[in-house]
Amino acid sequence: MSRTIFAANWKMHHGPVDARTFMRAFLPLHRSMPQREIWIFPPAVSLESVAQALRDHGDMLTGAQNIYWEPQGAFTGELSAPLAHQAGARAVLVGHSERRHVFGETVPQTAKKIRAAIDGALIPVLCVGERTEEREAGTTTAVIEQQLAALDDCSTAERRTVIIAYEPVWAIGTGHTATPDDAATVHRTIRASLVGRGVEATEVTILYGGSVNPANAAVLLREPEINGVLVGGASLDPAKWRAITTAGLD
Ligand code: PGA
Repeated sequence: MSRTIFAANWKMHHGPVDARTFMRAFLPLHRSMPQREIWIFPPAVSLESVAQALRDHGDMLTGAQNIYWEPQGAFTGELSAPLAHQAGARAVLVGHSERRHVFGETVPQTAKKIRAAIDGALIPVLCVGERTEEREAGTTTAVIEQQLAALDDCSTAERRTVIIAYEPVWAIGTGHTATPDDAATVHRTIRASLVGRGVEATEVTILYGGSVNPANAAVLLREPEINGVLVGGASLDPAKWRAITTAGLD
């Protein structure tokens, strides 16, 4: 049985006080489950609070939502991989659609962040996904292939460590989830692309993200192509998050 990753992207919510409150509510509800891992991506200021709350939980880790590619220096306002690691991060989201489309992050920048993450001992979670107009124009595969090109500077061994999150932009925060079939079709394309870059199909971990909630998580996770979920809005509430992380077990 392969592992399933439940990743929470808190975006710009839950500062250190709220993060501790969340953990105090969530941890008593949580039971460690075989092959299920919980990864929490809080805002940078809350990394340490979350890391401390998780320190006795081998099935959970925390990660940063974004990093800059330089390890240190005069870069006011930025967070580097070594600094995030020191705060307790063990993973990092790279190329989230909000980074690409709100902050104008480019594929070459995403590639530099993946390099920085690997060099800084953070597991990169590379987010890819098409916009509505790209889907309607039939260019989903081309758009995702271009986004996956950020992996071309990595060695095959490094590529094996990267997690991919497929998040169609039209599904993020909209309540419109891709059907398991639609998601699986794109996941197969992503898997083939990674295989083309030297990674074994079974080594590729692909999460689905975009309006995942307690009502649709189980049906998405029944799809063998979907190796986990990346959840925004519904991950902010401890009870909803518990329902998602236990989806399909009842
Ligand atoms: P959502 O966000 O679950 O609120 O759609 C997902 C994400 O942006 O990672």
